Amino acid sequence: MSHLIAVLPGDGIGPEITQQAVRVLEALGLPLTMETAPIGGAAYDAHGHPLPAQTLDLAKRSSAILFGAVGDWKYDSLARELRPEQAILGLRKELSLFANLRPAMLFPELANASSLKPEIVSGLDILILRELTGDIYFGQPRGLRTAGEGPFEGEREGFDTMRYAESEIRRIAKLGFEAAQKRNRKLCSVDKANVLETSQLWRDVVIEVSKDYPDVELSHMYVDNAAMQLVRAPREFDVIVTGNLFGDILSDEAAMLTGSIGMLPSASLNASSQGLYEPIHGSAPDIAGQNKANPLATILSAAMLLRYSLNEEAAAVRIENAVRKVLADGIRTGDIAEAGMQQVGTQEMGDAVLAAL
Ligand code: IPM
Ligand code: MG
Repeated sequence: MSHLIAVLPGDGIGPEITQQAVRVLEALGLPLTMETAPIGGAAYDAHGHPLPAQTLDLAKRSSAILFGAVGDWKYDSLARELRPEQAILGLRKELSLFANLRPAMLFPELANASSLKPEIVSGLDILILRELTGDIYFGQPRGLRTAGEGPFEGEREGFDTMRYAESEIRRIAKLGFEAAQKRNRKLCSVDKANVLETSQLWRDVVIEVSKDYPDVELSHMYVDNAAMQLVRAPREFDVIVTGNLFGDILSDEAAMLTGSIGMLPSASLNASSQGLYEPIHGSAPDIAGQNKANPLATILSAAMLLRYSLNEEAAAVRIENAVRKVLADGIRTGDIAEAGMQQVGTQEMGDAVLAAL
């Protein structure tokens, strides 16, 4: 049986990086069918909507989605519901992709790329598990209104709702414990329970779930402290589980610790292992179409796709080993290059990974 992969290249560097990941997937000799559809600003330009019905339909029919990136400043003045970001938020919601895995690991060959001292980051290997379909991102009510009676009466007022139901917390917490069991058995749950009711429930539910995982060491941290500990002693962390908003912020911070945001893949999964796989970096419109972008994060996302949605662990490892070999051989795109190394473009990096396969 052939697996259907939806390829959604998107905006900016999206098309050129997904192209390289598609080449790598095709080279594996697996029964894959790939279908491409527009998303984000590109889809708005072509069809008047960032997530057109045909694209959503393809995504729903697929076993997995290989996603490039969306967004460009030129769409900033559109109404919110037409902006490119709505495409990714819409896919998360429509496909119930509630579990976002964002590994932040330091490739030994790139230890000097971090802005932190090598002795603080060497060997860094963190998994951030971010809840992706709840929290203030999707909570209702939200909106803009004129403030009623009180100190701000008559002013424009913006409001959003932070909320989690206990089942939403429980399912992501379970995945957090399971991920920790496969790693170093440490789970840190990040919240703001000293201030927020939503976070108090989060903490209570995580503690309840922990009873089923006595082999995992559970800790709790307030999000402000977690942001600090991530730069002070990042290697203390193994798996971090947190809500949508805190996870958005902490995962960018963790990515920066590695100094090579062009290297980091991510997976967003639903309960039936259907997933969306994307590099964590954005669409970088400033270098789009110049054969400069680093395709490795997307290629590594393809490896995650094989592992989590297609259960093709061996093929995933093949890709990851090929990427390691390319790095060990000193082949670099501009973002990760050091003096004296062979600097290549997007296409040539794809060639190098294919050769290493
Ligand atoms: C991310 C991005 C998105 C988010 C944006 C593009 C909506 O920052 O995937 O982290 O906030 O979740
Ligand atoms: Mg983000």
